[in-house]
Amino acid sequence: MCGIVGIVGQQPVSERLVYALKRLEYRGYDSAGIATIDGGALDRRRAEGKLVNLEARLNEQPLAGTIGIGHTRWATHGAPKERNAHPHFTAGIAVVHNGIIENFAELKDELTASGAEFHTETDTEVVAHLLARLRRDGIGRREAMFAMLRRLRGAYALAVLFEDDPLTIMAARNGPPLAIGHGDGEMFLGSDAIALAPFTNEITYLIDGDWAIIDKTGVHIFDIDGNVVARPRQVSSDVAYMVDKGNHRHFMEKEIYEQPEVISHALGHYINFIDNRVVPVWDIDFAKVPNLALSACGTAYLAGLIGKYWFERYARLPVEIDVASEFRYREIPLSPQSAALFISQSGETADTLASLRYCKEHGLKIGAVVNTRESTIARESDAVFPILAGPEIGVASTKAFTCQLAVLAALAVGAGRARGTVSEQEEQALVKSLAEMPRIMGQVLNSIQPKIELLSRELSKCRDVLYLGRGTSFPLAMEGALKLKEISYIHAEGYAAGELKHGPIALIDENMPVIVIAPHDRFFDKTVSNMQEVAARGGRIILITDEMGAAASKLDTMHTIVLPNVDEIIAPMIFALPIQLLAYHTAVVMGTDVDQPRNLAKSVTVE
Ligand code: M6R
Repeated sequence: MCGIVGIVGQQPVSERLVYALKRLEYRGYDSAGIATIDGGALDRRRAEGKLVNLEARLNEQPLAGTIGIGHTRWATHGAPKERNAHPHFTAGIAVVHNGIIENFAELKDELTASGAEFHTETDTEVVAHLLARLRRDGIGRREAMFAMLRRLRGAYALAVLFEDDPLTIMAARNGPPLAIGHGDGEMFLGSDAIALAPFTNEITYLIDGDWAIIDKTGVHIFDIDGNVVARPRQVSSDVAYMVDKGNHRHFMEKEIYEQPEVISHALGHYINFIDNRVVPVWDIDFAKVPNLALSACGTAYLAGLIGKYWFERYARLPVEIDVASEFRYREIPLSPQSAALFISQSGETADTLASLRYCKEHGLKIGAVVNTRESTIARESDAVFPILAGPEIGVASTKAFTCQLAVLAALAVGAGRARGTVSEQEEQALVKSLAEMPRIMGQVLNSIQPKIELLSRELSKCRDVLYLGRGTSFPLAMEGALKLKEISYIHAEGYAAGELKHGPIALIDENMPVIVIAPHDRFFDKTVSNMQEVAARGGRIILITDEMGAAASKLDTMHTIVLPNVDEIIAPMIFALPIQLLAYHTAVVMGTDVDQPRNLAKSVTVE
C-alpha cells in the first residue's frame, strides 16, 4: 500500500524520485507526488492517478533541488484526489506516509482546537501539523520528530522534510517496511530495495520503532526510546532483478509465461533431481509436531488451503488454516510444540505479519514461504522457504501462486517422510511428478491460448461466473474466481462442487457460465454428478479437465479445455494455468487495466 522514496543527493533529484516511484507503483497508483527543497524553499508537484500524470505535471512545471521525497498512493483515508495526494505540507514541513495513523481523529480534534487548519481528508496530515506545533513551541527538529512519533498509534513508514534544514530527511518505521540506501556521497530511502536498485544495492533496513536522520554522508538510527542503534548494512539481492515486460503486453502475461522457468528454479531448491528425493531444508522435527498452523491472505491463502490438503494427506499432519485477518483475532488455542507457516509473496502483508507475531508470542516455531527474502515476514521467521519466483509486478498473483504451491508440495512430501507416512518409493514417485511440472506447464501454455481467447470473448459478456471444484480443485476454483473478479471486475465465486446444491444452485440459469475444474482424479465421478445438476437446470458448463476426464465425461458442455493427464500432486499447478489465462484474456477483451486493476495494490501493509 503506498510507496515512499527519498533522496539526499548532490545532483537534482526530481527525475530520480519519479524513477524510483515507478518501481513502487505496484504498491498503489491512486495519486502521486514529490517535494523538494530548492534555494531554501519547499515546493511540491502532485497529480491524481498514475505516475504518468505526475510526470506530465513535472514536464510543465519542473522541480529543482538536490533533496526530496516522493509518494505513490493507495487511498485509505480520503478520496484518491490531488488534494489528498502526498506530500502533505504545513508550515515548512513536508510529509509522505505509508500506513494508517489509527488515532488520527483524536489528534486532528486536538490540533484543530489549537488552531491547525486541515486541507485534506487524510490521516497523514496530522503528522505534519503535530511537527509544526512542536516546532512553533520552540522544539528542535530532532526532538520534535521524537515527540511526534510518541503521539502516533498505528502503522507508518514516514519521510519528512523540514524547509529550514535542506540537508536532511527524517524517516520512521512502525509496520510498513523502510529501506535506507547508501550511495556515493548520496543517500536514499525507499519502501523496498527494488525501488533503490537504480542507485545502490547497499541497504540498511529499519526495524519497527526505529527512526532515522539521513544526510548525504550517512544515516543515524534511533530506537523507539531515542537511543542510538546500529542496524546492519547489507548487499541486497533484490536489486539484481530487471523489472520489464519483455515482449509481453502486460506484466501479468509475462509472469504467466515465466512459470515453467521459475517453478523449475523453485523446485531445484527443494528437491534433488538426481535421486528424486526432497532436500531436508527445515530444522523442525516434523515427527514431533502435533499440528501445523497456516495463515495468509488472498491468493497466498488459497495456496495454503491446497497445502492443507497435502500436509494432511501425505504427512497426516492436522492443519489449522485461516485468512490472516481472522486468524490473528480468533484467539486460537496454540501449543508451543506446534509449527506455523505464513505464506506471502511480498512478505509484508500486515495481517499475515500480525498472525505470525501472534504465533511467535505463543512459542510456535515459525516458517515463512515468501518471495521477498529480505521482507519483514522473512526476517521475523525462524525458517525461510523462498519461492524464488522473481519479482511479481502484476497485481494479480500468478507465478507466485504456483511457486508457493510447488514449495508447499515439496514441504508436505518432506514432512511425510519425516513422519513415516510417505515411504522412500512414494517420495521418489511424488518427486518425479514434481520434476515433470515445468515441461508440462510449457506444453500447456503453448497449446491452450487460442481456445482460451475464444472463450474469453464469451466470458467478457457475462455478469456473473461460478467456479466449481472438489479436493484441491476447490481452492483452485476460488482462485479462478478471485483472478477473474480482480482484473475483469466480473462477479465470480468459487464453490466446493458438493456444496452447489446447498444454495448456489439457485443461481443457475442459461446466463450463468459454470467453470468446472475437474481433473480425472478420485473425485471425478462425483464432480460429473454435480455438472449434471447444472446441466439439468440449463446452466452453461465450461469444463477444464484432462484427456481421461474428457473421454469419460459424456456431458454436453459449452466448452471443454483439455489438459494432459498428470499426477494428482501437480494437478493444481497445471490447472492453475488455464484459469489464469482465462482471467487475463477476459480482462484484455474488456480493456481493463490488467496490471494495475482499480482499487487494488500489490502489497497490503495496512489492516
Ligand atoms: O503479498 P501477499 O502474498 O501476502 O499478498 C496477499 C494478497 O494480497 C494477494 O495474494 C492478493 O490476493 C492478490 N492480488 C491476488 O491476485
